[in-house]
Amino acid sequence: MRSKQARLDRFISRQLNIPQREVKLLLARGQVRVDKSVANNGQMLVNEFSHIAVNEQVLQAIQPKYLMLNKPAGVVSATKDPQHKTVIDLLEPGDHSDLHIAGRLDFNSTGLLLLTNDGRWSRFIASPENNIYKRYRVTLEKPLDSRYVEAFSQGLFFDYEGITTRPAKLKILSDYEAEVSLREGRYHQIKRMFGRFQNKVLTLHRLAIGPLILDAELKPGQSRMLSEQEVADIVRA
Ligand code: URA
Repeated sequence: MRSKQARLDRFISRQLNIPQREVKLLLARGQVRVDKSVANNGQMLVNEFSHIAVNEQVLQAIQPKYLMLNKPAGVVSATKDPQHKTVIDLLEPGDHSDLHIAGRLDFNSTGLLLLTNDGRWSRFIASPENNIYKRYRVTLEKPLDSRYVEAFSQGLFFDYEGITTRPAKLKILSDYEAEVSLREGRYHQIKRMFGRFQNKVLTLHRLAIGPLILDAELKPGQSRMLSEQEVADIVRA
């Protein structure tokens, strides 16, 4: 995952509005700390989550946040909505103004939803090139058959966007139930794919995003922070 980085000396010079030679002095005198350790090298790269202080003055202290939520039906995957409850309304009270959603689910879809303030992490998850498969359990109105498996793996042409969907995996579990794995997330993608067979999706539940599986302990509407390991596993997958 490529991070948006900046050189420490340039960052300090910009933040304090002082010339580079003054920054050099601060660094040489051991007055700069990055992530609580003295930093002497101005060429060191820092990012938006590096804790940076000059003497006692904290220049930057943003904590990265990563949460998983078990989204219930009837809630909007948005941070604000004039009409309906949003996924943000389901979180523990606190300041969530910096959070965004890493891969939306439709109003009536349920399951694993990720929220973060780390734009690089969410872009990495969304980008089809990174092969982060999103796995869904789907129930259908009409029985399934092997034609679907073939069509999903070939890709389906979507007129509106003028694109062919990337190869998707379809595992038929029973006549009316399947697991679908996609590495992209187009508008109503799964519903539209089954729509090609005039087969209506009755329920859609996201089980996993890459190696991250929805925590079985989370009841609909509940959320928890991800562990450092879980955050890292997604980008290593
Ligand atoms: N595809 C859909 O059609 N809806 C979702 O919520 C997710 C994927």
